[in-house]
Amino acid sequence: MIVGSTVLIMTAPAGSVDPLSSFEAIASQRRSSLRVDPDHSVPDELVDRLIAVSATAPNHRRTFPWRFRIIIGNGRAELGDALAQDLVDANQPEAKVEKARSKYLRAPVVIAVAAIAGEDATMTAENRDAVSAAIQTLLLGATAAGLASYWSTGAAMTSVRFREFCGFDATDTTVGLVYLGWPNGDPPPIDRPAPESLRIGASTQTP
Ligand SMILES: Cc1cc2nc3c(=O)[nH]c(=O)nc-3n(C[C@H](O)[C@H](O)[C@H](O)COP(=O)(O)O)c2cc1C
Repeated sequence: MIVGSTVLIMTAPAGSVDPLSSFEAIASQRRSSLRVDPDHSVPDELVDRLIAVSATAPNHRRTFPWRFRIIIGNGRAELGDALAQDLVDANQPEAKVEKARSKYLRAPVVIAVAAIAGEDATMTAENRDAVSAAIQTLLLGATAAGLASYWSTGAAMTSVRFREFCGFDATDTTVGLVYLGWPNGDPPPIDRPAPESLRIGASTQTP
């Protein structure tokens, strides 16, 4: 129902289509999952569409602060080698080094996402917020397309080798690595507590 410029979201009467329900279904289906077939490639066009839709996220001052690097094929092993070298330099055990080397081979596509710096600390924080919103949009798009997705952070976020591998600037902030692939299993269910939500003030709208 549209009243003036306000769209009232209501429980749909029996037999009618609830306009929010398809989005609710996608959002509730989205899960962090690496249960994917690493050898089943994802078409480049699909990945490009997901990145394009992610860039519809809101961004204050229209800084369009996102940077994407799509890491596929042998690029995944090269990225793993870069991160493994960090561990070698830090005298980490061989088993850990080898695990890092093959880490990015778990999915056919890994997307590194960074936020550019702003002119001041507030803009830099807002740029990062916008990039986080872009990543969530990408994850929802992936879910809608039937892909499994997984947002990870970890040591790569602060690795100079990782940054240089991606060609990010020293002033950029890496916000995440997103693994994408076709699902070959389901993650265990998750219990989500109801979000804290408090209505303040009395509505003047009439139903
Ligand atoms: C900023 C951010 C960083 C994350 N980093 C990791 C990570 O490094 N490793 C990991 O296993 N999951 C990571 N996750 C995924 C969360 O663990 C996951 O979202 C959470 O368990 C809830 O599960 P769901 O995404 O399936 O709802 C990250 C999520 C966010 C938003």
